[in-house]
Amino acid sequence: MSAVLELLDSTALIPFWARAHDAALEEPILGDTTALDMAAMVRQRFAEPPVPTITRVGCCLRNLAMDWWLCQLVERQQVETTVVIGAGLDTRRQRLPELNSRFVEVDSAAIIELRDRWIPAAGATRLAGDGLHVDTWLRTTNAAEPASVAIVLEGVLAYQQPERVARFLGDIREHLPGAYLLFDSPSPISARSANRPQPGREARPAYNWAPWSTSRLGDRKDRLMIIEEKGFMDFPRAMTSCFSRRDRIIHTLPLLRRSYRMTLARVPGGAGA
Ligand SMILES: C[S@@+](CC[C@H](N)C(=O)[O-])C[C@H]1O[C@@H](n2cnc3c(N)ncnc32)[C@H](O)[C@@H]1O
Repeated sequence: MSAVLELLDSTALIPFWARAHDAALEEPILGDTTALDMAAMVRQRFAEPPVPTITRVGCCLRNLAMDWWLCQLVERQQVETTVVIGAGLDTRRQRLPELNSRFVEVDSAAIIELRDRWIPAAGATRLAGDGLHVDTWLRTTNAAEPASVAIVLEGVLAYQQPERVARFLGDIREHLPGAYLLFDSPSPISARSANRPQPGREARPAYNWAPWSTSRLGDRKDRLMIIEEKGFMDFPRAMTSCFSRRDRIIHTLPLLRRSYRMTLARVPGGAGA
């Protein structure tokens, strides 16, 4: 197998193992059995990295939030095409077989090669390239109906340089007014803490993009419209029992409540957006 993973590509392994370990539990959060079925193949090809409990839970809650939002948008017929930028080794098509949306999966050539070997496309279009360049995938969407497109970026934007993210947001405002945008982001406090030197830290690229507030992204007259935002403490207690009492108390402080958040937003400019 020829795929060689660069540092950024290799970030796909942590959420993959989070899903695989979660699916092996008696009471999983996500229950992605396809990830569990893939575990032996992935382990044989790459060493299995350690995944702390809190990381496992965080990755699965992130997938769960995006799954919920996406299902709602598709069921209400607001979305026909889903573009997943930085698909990694995610198995959303298998997790949500009933999701009636055209799917486009974008990632590096090495990750797309692994997806082609390990994960049935199930009708998805796969594209190797830089997903933050809209030209990589724009033609696969229905240009006449930009508001029927959902763009999903999970675990992707935080690793990018702020100017790249700003350019990307400007491009989707220009080309896809009214589209839905599903993404996650750390606050600067959370990014600073995650970037502190710690054992194993060198194995992960640094968080570079960490906005104070998602509602202030973009120019003053051209902001993203935030539809819903979630932090980990917004999930049912049964799913977040791994967070210590101290973490819970800290996360009730207004500044820290959403120090890491998942966001469902709408790109300004479309009818009704
Ligand atoms: C942390 S992983 C998340 C993978 C997947 N979203 C998940 O939740 O399992 C980030 C992924 O984004 C990909 N990625 C990062 N920057 C990208 C870019 N500019 N274009 C396409 N893919 C990118 C990486 O190769 C990696 O597969």
